[in-house]
Amino acid sequence: PVDLYGRERRNSEGVDLSVGEERARLAAAVARLKPVEAGALVGGKLTLGCNAPPMTSPADPDLVVGKASEAVKPEIDAAFARARAAQPGWDAAGGPARAKVLRSMGDALEAERERLIALCIREAGKTLPDAVAEIREAADFCRYYAHLAETRMVPETLKGPAGESNVLELHGRGVFVCISPWNFPLAIFTGQVAAALAAGNAVLAKPAEQTPLIAAEAVRLFHGAGLDPDLLALVPGRGETVGAALVSHPDCDGVAFTGGTETAWAINRTLAERKGPIVPFIAETGGLNGMFVDTTALKEQVIDDVVLSAFGSAGQRCSALRLLFLPNETADGLVEGIAGAMDALVVGDPADPATDVGPVIDEEARGNLAAHLERLEREAKVVRRLPAPNRGTFFGPVLAEVPSARFLEREVFGPILHVVRYDPARLREAAADLAASGYGLTLGVHSRIESFAEEVRRLVPAGNVYVNRSIIGAVVGVQPFGGEGLSGTGPKAGGPNALSRYCLERAVSINI
Ligand code: SER
Repeated sequence: PVDLYGRERRNSEGVDLSVGEERARLAAAVARLKPVEAGALVGGKLTLGCNAPPMTSPADPDLVVGKASEAVKPEIDAAFARARAAQPGWDAAGGPARAKVLRSMGDALEAERERLIALCIREAGKTLPDAVAEIREAADFCRYYAHLAETRMVPETLKGPAGESNVLELHGRGVFVCISPWNFPLAIFTGQVAAALAAGNAVLAKPAEQTPLIAAEAVRLFHGAGLDPDLLALVPGRGETVGAALVSHPDCDGVAFTGGTETAWAINRTLAERKGPIVPFIAETGGLNGMFVDTTALKEQVIDDVVLSAFGSAGQRCSALRLLFLPNETADGLVEGIAGAMDALVVGDPADPATDVGPVIDEEARGNLAAHLERLEREAKVVRRLPAPNRGTFFGPVLAEVPSARFLEREVFGPILHVVRYDPARLREAAADLAASGYGLTLGVHSRIESFAEEVRRLVPAGNVYVNRSIIGAVVGVQPFGGEGLSGTGPKAGGPNALSRYCLERAVSINI
């Protein structure tokens, strides 16, 4: 494929899971995975606190995946000091030099993919196809941002009066704090870091407290790919402690965050209270994502796309489908078809290639879903609930019918799909109920009528719209990803403007 600038750009090819030998190789990698350690990784040196608790797999509480400790204040201060000192040289090296390191990182991710896939399965409970997709997306982010560093992070000469030279330069802002979620523990972690580095920043990266191990591996790979260790430190820990210390630190020159909307508000408040420079805040948060189906839609395609969008990755994607709008006329048949397709889903061991739905991330997540299910049983209608294994933090997918989108006030993060029946003559009201949530991440439409898709788009603001397909799995450089309103600030990850808020602009005019 040729990208926006006419250059050849390729996305990672991943692993063909239909080939038995590939599956066998990955199974062997899972079996031989050794425990991994994560703690503050500053200047390339790991410090594992003496009280580092064992990290266990969401699929099996007896399976220890490694050990992790929190970064403490002196480590955070040291990481900022090293990053501050190293950043000007990295910025001055220029976009093309930085791109070289990022491309090496893309290659390193692919070279190490078997072990990384195994770790994604064990630490985050990712299914095999989802773990493969993680590595692909992480490599894609590195190469795509390398490409942006080469093509955009270069001085641009602007035409002015004769005798005057006018140049617009883009520079890194300084030290970026990147705070990433557990649902894409490698892809989003790597994507944020790669974007900040591509723009000429140094980075302190805080992975989600549930998934520090895979993040530690990513940082080691960055350093192995030729990045000065002072330019990227890992500072793992909880949001309330480490996250708060990072964003309130006087050396923090910008924050990139992916996670819940409430946490984004908290970070925004902390940044607003800081004295000194006003720094950018790039947030990608949740969604209450809907899909509208009309009577012209193809039933089998709707069922396939709905099941994948709602229950793929155990519904733990910010892009996942939460509210499905079905026209009264065809709703009975579609609900029955979706429930039937759910019965064929395999819920279980994420390392098993037959598994469709793995565990949810932890006990807290399962508890929240269970509480929501109780509400659905009391106040709405549960159509289907699949059984799930008793060990580990599994939650069987649920299909329920609710009276309107207003039934949900906030994102429900997991495999629960809500159906709303609507009268096509009152499409506007149904859509307004969804838009009233204030989120604006993904939106789906299934219809053979173009004007229907256009009308839905007009009625429901969303950053990523998908017509006649699933609404998950945005591809780097193909579907730039990110929402609006309660769903985030932009710029979109994996899109041509992704670096815009990671850098600052300087215009230099010289009269000769
Ligand atoms: N980028 C992911 C998707 O498109 C969600 O974070 O599904």
